[in-house]
Amino acid sequence: MSTSWEKIPQLRRADGPAAVLAIGTANPDNVVYQTDFPDYYFRVTKSEHLTKLKEKFKRICEKTMIRKRHIHLTEEMLKKYPNICSYEAPSLNDRQDIMIREVPMLAKAAATVAIKEWGRPVSDITHVIFCTTAGVDMPGADYQLIKLLDLSPSVRRVMLYHQGCFAGGTVLRLAKDLAENNRRARVLVVCSEVTVTTFRGPCETHIDSLVGQAIFGDGAAALIVGSDPDPALEHRPLYHLMHASETILPGSEGTIEGHLREVGLHFGLSRRVPELIAEHVEESLHRGLGSLGVVDVDWNSMFWVPHPGGAAILDRLEEKLELDKDRLRATREVLKEFGNMSSACVFFILDEMRKRSAAEGKSTTGEGMEWGVLMGFGPGLTVETVVLRSVPIDPC
Ligand code: CAA
Repeated sequence: MSTSWEKIPQLRRADGPAAVLAIGTANPDNVVYQTDFPDYYFRVTKSEHLTKLKEKFKRICEKTMIRKRHIHLTEEMLKKYPNICSYEAPSLNDRQDIMIREVPMLAKAAATVAIKEWGRPVSDITHVIFCTTAGVDMPGADYQLIKLLDLSPSVRRVMLYHQGCFAGGTVLRLAKDLAENNRRARVLVVCSEVTVTTFRGPCETHIDSLVGQAIFGDGAAALIVGSDPDPALEHRPLYHLMHASETILPGSEGTIEGHLREVGLHFGLSRRVPELIAEHVEESLHRGLGSLGVVDVDWNSMFWVPHPGGAAILDRLEEKLELDKDRLRATREVLKEFGNMSSACVFFILDEMRKRSAAEGKSTTGEGMEWGVLMGFGPGLTVETVVLRSVPIDPC
């Protein structure tokens, strides 16, 4: 063997940056419309007597800027599992029974769409990164997905449980490192989220939990990530992953928390979240773009993929960065049609953006812009920042 052993890692590395090669999404069939939801929610949770609380919930629902959400739990299922409808009856076993089955099934549906678009056989998938906030199990949802998709038993797996909404950025950061450090790696990335973990009845002293009931929805998104696409076998990439970083915001401790209890995932949310994100957003942006030599950026010259945690977060970001209304169009569309699907949301936005860019004759997958930023926000308060580069779209 002529190669020096010290050169082996270098030879294993890819030449080019990691790229998103395909995107797929899926949602449960059951749809709830936001205008009907307060009546439905107070009825199924047998809380009609809490009339003032119901009025407040109506006010919250009206301000969410959400039209509909997909939610796996149907009224029929809730009748079967009445403890899930209470605010704090022990219900983890029931929730786990549902989540352990549904999280990989929803992941399979999204992955099937992504793999079809990618066009290569599943045997070419080398790595899987699976992320969910819902349920924990051994072997995990990553293992179940490998069985469901008939992937090679030697696929290298990473399972991320209980990260929260920032993790759309986390999985991209990991996928980028895997793809760039393993020549020919093809990473199947899946975020699969169901609200079975957080759904619960109302409580007059925990309005933050009620906010969660008004905004969270179910959905899964899957990507294929790899470097150096093979033009004979693969389409042109959709986005390049140029930089990824993570940070904890100063003074944000305790503002978003999730505690797994016998009652399911107990969720805590401070009113300060939108303001804190807006106050610190520019630091994360300068760090990410500065490392690539991109400075003095007009934020309106970029495409934006922030996690739509809630309408107030998007409003504060828009104000702080002085963004034109169009910049968050794809993000607001996803919030409107699906609600907050935790880690999966940012990939629904990427999917919406590339499709809309093509349909509207834009020159790139990033609404005609070259550079863009995907941001995840979640417990900590943790912020993930991924700098993206779009790809030209051929005119039809
Ligand atoms: N805690 C308690 N009460 C809250 C609240 C909170 N975090 N946020 C809003 N409320 C209450 C208000 O007190 C108000 O009550 P009254 O009507 O009785 O006055 C009611 O909700 C409506 O609030 P506003 O009138 O101020 O309306 P708004 O324009 O702020 O809209 C909202 C309400 C849609 C919930 C908006 O505040 C919002 O989008 N908030 C951000 C939600 C958020 O932080 N999302 C992040 C979720 S966590 C996540 O995504 C990551 C993860 O890991 C899970």
